[in-house]
Amino acid sequence: MKRRFGILSAGGDCPGINAVIRAATKRIMREGCEMIGFLGGYGGLVEKAYRVLDEAAISGLLHRGGTMLGSNNRYNPMRYPVTIDGKTVMKDCTAEAMQTIQELGIEGIIAIGGDGTLAVTKDMAAHGLKAVTVPKTIDNDLPHTDQTFGFDTAVQTATEALDKLHSTAESHHRVMVLELMGRYAGWIALMSGVAGGADVILIPEIPWNIEAVARKILDRKRNGKPFSIVVVAEGTPDPQGNPVIKRRIEESHEPVRLGGIGQLVGDLIEEHTGIETRVTVLGHIQRGGSPSPYDRVLATMLGVAAAERALRGEWGVMVTLKDAKIQAVPFEDIAPGAKLVSPNHELVLAARACGICLGDE
Ligand code: F6P
Repeated sequence: MKRRFGILSAGGDCPGINAVIRAATKRIMREGCEMIGFLGGYGGLVEKAYRVLDEAAISGLLHRGGTMLGSNNRYNPMRYPVTIDGKTVMKDCTAEAMQTIQELGIEGIIAIGGDGTLAVTKDMAAHGLKAVTVPKTIDNDLPHTDQTFGFDTAVQTATEALDKLHSTAESHHRVMVLELMGRYAGWIALMSGVAGGADVILIPEIPWNIEAVARKILDRKRNGKPFSIVVVAEGTPDPQGNPVIKRRIEESHEPVRLGGIGQLVGDLIEEHTGIETRVTVLGHIQRGGSPSPYDRVLATMLGVAAAERALRGEWGVMVTLKDAKIQAVPFEDIAPGAKLVSPNHELVLAARACGICLGDE
């Protein structure tokens, strides 16, 4: 029988996951081994939902957004929703997941995911699961990564949105506020804000006040620019420091879903400047679409690296781009918490040097 490995994608999707699946599968197949793709994240292991990934299955994947295996940010085998007597209850299905691995004769799995997936994978590893993880997120907020794939594409999408907002803002002499994703990190907002020529960029890492924002917008008006572009990251708290939350999804690893700060900022700007203000929330558009060339290349390199670790039996590591090199970090060395924007980051300083208001001065 051929040596067999598994692969799954869990958590929120992002452009480039298919490129990882394709590269890892190609590398595994070159050694005469077989790749099994589990469907719907960790749910695929519990439910025995899978497909064999052959040449035909991975053909034409490189440029496709999303994930051909499906994803899920709620499924954790240790707290898995099952229906008993018409009621949904949480059950520990670790044994079922491990049985799937055994029955299929899989040596170990490649798990593509963010912090939630890493946490589940680490817990499963303690139950005997052999795994290599591949970090992914548009938010670019994972520790031990220079950059995650998906981020570059999201920044490109957000920048295109800003270019479009610019022309209509200029025509109507309005303030345009664009709310962007990123959870508690301001990477997408900062990067696309600079790339898209924003006048104000608000990020969670830098406390802001409406007086500073209004001053910037009114100064522009006085200097013959009666329109302004404001970018705000979804995780930016209100001026009092309170998070702005859209909803809660209790079964999720991270139950809080952020949203609403864009409208709040827009309302305050209108009130303090008297200039007509419109708000756009870019939302999941940032997660969709074809990956950029950079993301395709990074995802391919990580897919190959993960497959090579799996083939060598080097389990319990996350492959990552760190210090401009593809490396592997053991699970136990992965620091908790998110990789946030330092207020002294070079790009923050460059933005200030170009006259962009970060909301604090
Ligand atoms: O982590 C990726 C991300 O898109 C965040 O930027 C955003 O806050 C969150 O996921 C949205 O989650 P969901 O797809 O569950 O609404």
